[in-house]
Amino acid sequence: MGEGILSRSDVAVRESAAGFTRRGGWLHADSVALADIARLAGTPTYVYSASAVRAQYARLDAALAGVPHRIHYSVKANGNLALLSLLRQLGAGVDIVSGGELYRARAAGFRGSDVVFSGVGKTVAELDDAVQAEVKLVNVESEAELRLLDDIARLHRRVAPVALRVNPEVEVETAHHYTRTGARGDKFGIPYDEARGVARLAGSLPNVALAGLDMHIGSQLTRIEPYADGLARLLELRDAIVADGGGARLRYLDIGGGLGVTYDAESEADLDAFARIVVPAAKKSGLELVMEPGRFLVGNAGVLLTRVLYRKRSGGKDYVITDAGMTELLRPSHYNAFHRIEPVGPSGVAGVVDVVGPVCESGDFFARDRSLGDVVPGELLAIGSAGAYGSVMSSQYNARPRVPEIIVDGERVAVARERETVEDLVRHEKASPQWRTL
Ligand SMILES: Cc1ncc(COP(=O)(O)O)c(C=O)c1O
Repeated sequence: MGEGILSRSDVAVRESAAGFTRRGGWLHADSVALADIARLAGTPTYVYSASAVRAQYARLDAALAGVPHRIHYSVKANGNLALLSLLRQLGAGVDIVSGGELYRARAAGFRGSDVVFSGVGKTVAELDDAVQAEVKLVNVESEAELRLLDDIARLHRRVAPVALRVNPEVEVETAHHYTRTGARGDKFGIPYDEARGVARLAGSLPNVALAGLDMHIGSQLTRIEPYADGLARLLELRDAIVADGGGARLRYLDIGGGLGVTYDAESEADLDAFARIVVPAAKKSGLELVMEPGRFLVGNAGVLLTRVLYRKRSGGKDYVITDAGMTELLRPSHYNAFHRIEPVGPSGVAGVVDVVGPVCESGDFFARDRSLGDVVPGELLAIGSAGAYGSVMSSQYNARPRVPEIIVDGERVAVARERETVEDLVRHEKASPQWRTL
């Protein structure tokens, strides 16, 4: 068995044949050949491994076992209903950032008490829905949001449990600055020096209850020290709130998401070291630990399967043109992100190529100057680590219908999302709109 996309980094997953491994030279998802999936669903298509998700969930759950905790999967990473449902069955709650994600979560069977509601710009309608759904926590990001939530909860004669999402002002290293969220001046969270005052305000408002403290410092973190710095700040704030007499209903310590995965040769976040930081701190606080991981649970549980359309030489460059593009996987274009790419079948001697999509943008690329096994038009490629921030960021740009999502579990395969049709592209449009005067 050769090296597969997932297998390089995760021995446990490799041993149980979960995820993406090579058998007889052909790449498989669990026990199913990706070539068979391409025959079933066409290309491009996303393929997810249920057992890879289970394995990651189990690893994180075990790492946090020393303290009362709940893993609230961050729906923004991949909101496919079949994946949400799988995570619900594993015991996860969800972390959402919009009313649409609340709808998705409920469609997958989550109850309000399973939901933590994050987000820097929640609307009146979204807060109203959250209050009516009786979510576990609304992670408020400003004094104005807190007051608005109090007003809305009053209309419903409810007391809304809130956590203060604090900006702990810690610097993190991530591959792209767009994925850093906890430094001074970032748009996210309540500025640290204002948080104590907002906590006092929460204590004085009748229709909110200060139930938690929260941070989310960034995404794709491979160094775990910033969690220690952020946690220290949250606990310092907790002490100040207790000293002010406002700690009576504090119950949750939400440390956000952010745990990194292996896209290339970078090391994965060290889970044991992470647990050594987080578990004793949470235990000492007496609060229940909440985490909001997205990428860690699903990132390496998915690939984007695409077919080579053309080979072309231009200006001394060798191009591999695929039927998937930035419309399906935006991360290379948006974050300059690295994704491993490998031929699905056995391939000839590697050459250095650019792998690009069909979209009419020079930014539509998956890899530049990449060594790739020799492939000819018609052959399949798997773009790795595409389970998180892949399908959810897809678009219909260039009038391209969105692609299917296939889920594999051992030897079984299911269509978790159908391919859109061209009729779907124009479903909400009107060629002859009805004009009126307002
Ligand atoms: C508030 C919040 N929680 C959790 C996450 C999930 O992050 P990740 O996928 O890096 O775990 C995000 C994503 O950036 C987020 O904004």
